[in-house]
Amino acid sequence: MLNIIIFVVLGFILFMMFFIEHKFPSIVKKASEHRDEEYFHEKVEVSRGFIYAAIVLVVVLMIAALYMMVKGTPYEGHIMEWLNIIMRVMHVTFGIAWIGASFYFVWLENALNRKDGVRDELAGNLWAIHGGGFYYLEKYKVAPQQVPKQLHWFKYEAYFTWLSGFCMMFIVYYFNAKAMLVDDTVLKLTAAQAIGIGIGSLVVGWVIYDLLCKTPLARSKWFAPVGFVLLVAFAWGYANVFNSRAAYIHFGAMLGTIMAANVFFVIIPAQKAMVNAAKQGKPVNPELGKHAGLRSLHNNYFTLPVLFVMVSNHFPSTFGHQYSWAVLAAISVGAAGVKHYLNLKERGQYNIWVMPVSALILLAVAFVTAPPKPGACKENISYAEVNAIITTRCIQCHSSKPTDDVYTAPPNGVTYDIPANIVKLKDQVMQRVVVTKTMPLNNKTGMTPEERDVIRCWIEQGAKMK
Ligand code: HEC
Repeated sequence: MLNIIIFVVLGFILFMMFFIEHKFPSIVKKASEHRDEEYFHEKVEVSRGFIYAAIVLVVVLMIAALYMMVKGTPYEGHIMEWLNIIMRVMHVTFGIAWIGASFYFVWLENALNRKDGVRDELAGNLWAIHGGGFYYLEKYKVAPQQVPKQLHWFKYEAYFTWLSGFCMMFIVYYFNAKAMLVDDTVLKLTAAQAIGIGIGSLVVGWVIYDLLCKTPLARSKWFAPVGFVLLVAFAWGYANVFNSRAAYIHFGAMLGTIMAANVFFVIIPAQKAMVNAAKQGKPVNPELGKHAGLRSLHNNYFTLPVLFVMVSNHFPSTFGHQYSWAVLAAISVGAAGVKHYLNLKERGQYNIWVMPVSALILLAVAFVTAPPKPGACKENISYAEVNAIITTRCIQCHSSKPTDDVYTAPPNGVTYDIPANIVKLKDQVMQRVVVTKTMPLNNKTGMTPEERDVIRCWIEQGAKMK
């Protein structure tokens, strides 16, 4: 009952916040009547930031209250699924907005016309057509004489992508850490230890990266190789602490955290300093912009590897590989290489080897992760044999009424109560049970290698229902 009251009160507060956010400009306007326009804009901007942060906080509290309400009831699984859906869609949407803007501005920078009829104070300009309109953009070398009142900032996309991603970590991995994060065959950890390591590693990753960026190394050609070695170390470390799927996600989350922290701690403060200097008519330190630009470029290279990691959960042949960390490292290089090629191309620098080498690396990964040559099979494996295995090893979770202590609803909606389902899903079963051995989850039900062979042979013989 208390939980319901808390939930309703929080809901009311949330509603009020949206109301305030909406009414805010007019309230401030009244309060700052005797001040100038600029003061007004600044106040609105700053307060908006606080309101958005408060809205996020209230939503998180509401989710926590909701969770307490359903904990231990049959609705727990259902609520988790819906939280997952909502958060995931938010995460993807903010991510598209952020990465889209990031790609766009790097492209813009690369495509600027820097020569023809460019005024002295400008770095370049560009004409574009989009959505049925002509656009003309100018980039200043440092800052305009007069900072315009309406200046668009790009930051909330980054913050909200990170926040929603962080929530996803809890929904998918941390709330259920014993099953989704820890693998006792990799390292015996309690849920709290594993979560501590997970979150701590995000902080450590950022601190190391940030320190490196402040050394002269950041501008030398050695930055990329050194950074790569460190990243491989992280990938290896995660693979030796978490279950393989969680290890991948943490690698992506670590890169994503660096990207968002770059925006929050470096790029935005540098831009604020630039704007303030320009407003006071002081010379703007061009180093600020350059340093922010460097971080922004790093972010640009991180995007494709991060995107790969975020979808990797659907591809057990990657995270399920014996040397999953090496596969991850190779795919990251390949993906960053593709981005490098695209960046060069936008600058009009055609390079013949970057793309083929990147493609070769990715192809090599596909080759290395191919399933090994199968062993001999006994003839005509019957469905009854397979069904016996599925019944003892899988339907604890994959049933419309699971008996597992953690999964109260069938994971991903996959059930094996009806034999036909196994046949329908035979390719996925092959992937998860035989090739990558990522099912049963953490081998909780103790499936033997012989049983995996029976499943493989049965599928190879055509998955017949007799
Ligand atoms: C301890 C619970 C548990 C057991 C036992 C288990 N699974 Fe799963 N299974 C899961 C969870 C959780 C997921 C979703 C997360 C994932 O894909 O890793 C899943 C996902 C799957 C998927 C992927 C479905 C998709 O849409 O991608 C397949 C296929 C699968 N399991 C097959 C099996 C088979 C076959 C067995 C028995 C040999 C089995 N599982 C035993 C928990 C379990």
